[in-house]
Amino acid sequence: MTETISSSRILGELYADIRTDLDKVEGQLAEMIRSDNPLIDEINAYLFAAGGKRLRPALLTLCARLCGDGGSPDTAFWSAVIEIIHTASLVHDDIIDRTDLRRGRETVHARWGANITVLLGDHLYIRAIHQALRTRRYEIIDALSEATERMIDGELQEYALSGDPRLSEDRYFEILGKKTAALFAAACRIGGILGGADSGLIRHLDGYGLNLGLAFQITDDLLDFTGQPAELGKPVLTDLREGRITLPVIYALRKIDGVARADFLSWIETRSVDPLAINRIRAAVFASGAIPEVAAKAGQFAERAKSFLPQASPSPAARTLARLADFILERSV
Ligand code: FPP
Ligand code: MG
Repeated sequence: MTETISSSRILGELYADIRTDLDKVEGQLAEMIRSDNPLIDEINAYLFAAGGKRLRPALLTLCARLCGDGGSPDTAFWSAVIEIIHTASLVHDDIIDRTDLRRGRETVHARWGANITVLLGDHLYIRAIHQALRTRRYEIIDALSEATERMIDGELQEYALSGDPRLSEDRYFEILGKKTAALFAAACRIGGILGGADSGLIRHLDGYGLNLGLAFQITDDLLDFTGQPAELGKPVLTDLREGRITLPVIYALRKIDGVARADFLSWIETRSVDPLAINRIRAAVFASGAIPEVAAKAGQFAERAKSFLPQASPSPAARTLARLADFILERSV
């Protein structure tokens, strides 16, 4: 719990300069999700009251600031659109991952069932796109649509490759790049567009977002092994249970050989029927020394992300973006 408080405190400090902007995002969110359908209204109220790190709105806002935007209403609007798309993706992801807890409370599908939840996620997504279309800002809508297409592609690949321990590191990164980092990159790119950046700077912001997204998801996969459910607000070992092969397993497999390797592979195969298999895999991953290597890899992506930020006399926004890259590695939530 102390860890959670310190993660929230660090985030609060990082967001200090954009607090007013983020408050406006909350206002936009409330307006955008409002519905005449009482069930949609009830579920949305439940979903958005759970809060969240609001990382994508913060990235969009900070990137816009970095390019000279002084807090225009457009940044709050597009931040809300991107947060709704992100929320819709989590609502669907929790069905796919069969997770009953998110942000410390029951997931939508655990409470309302999968059928309602699929429709609710669809509704949220199309609501965001509908609002976006009204602006006729096709460059931004294109970035969002492309990112969502990549997210679905990545999620689908991850699911289709579940249980296959031959998953390579490169393929794993490709999946993460799509399912998670594409939306981070889009948030940064859109911030650049709104801030009036030239194409060179937009490419750099995109590079920052992509690498930050990779660092974020590798850390997420690490926390599935090392985190505390009470702090994360969601269960741990979910990836293992569902057969998702993540970097800790990929690195462990490089270090384990002989009989131990055959055992390890058979535990992955039998994990859904043998209740002891998950704990055995977890223990073997820890014993292999893979955990610090995974943390180091996340660190490399975070450093690469920072290298895309303007280096000479960095603005406060650029400094916050660099510190966010460190936070993403150290977080416990
Ligand atoms: C969480 O990953 C999930 C994602 C990053 C993306 C999910 C994307 C989709 C379901 C497709 C997009 C759908 C719509 C409606 C826009 P995780 O399971 O590794 O993380 P977790 O531990 O937080 O669940
Ligand atoms: Mg999940």
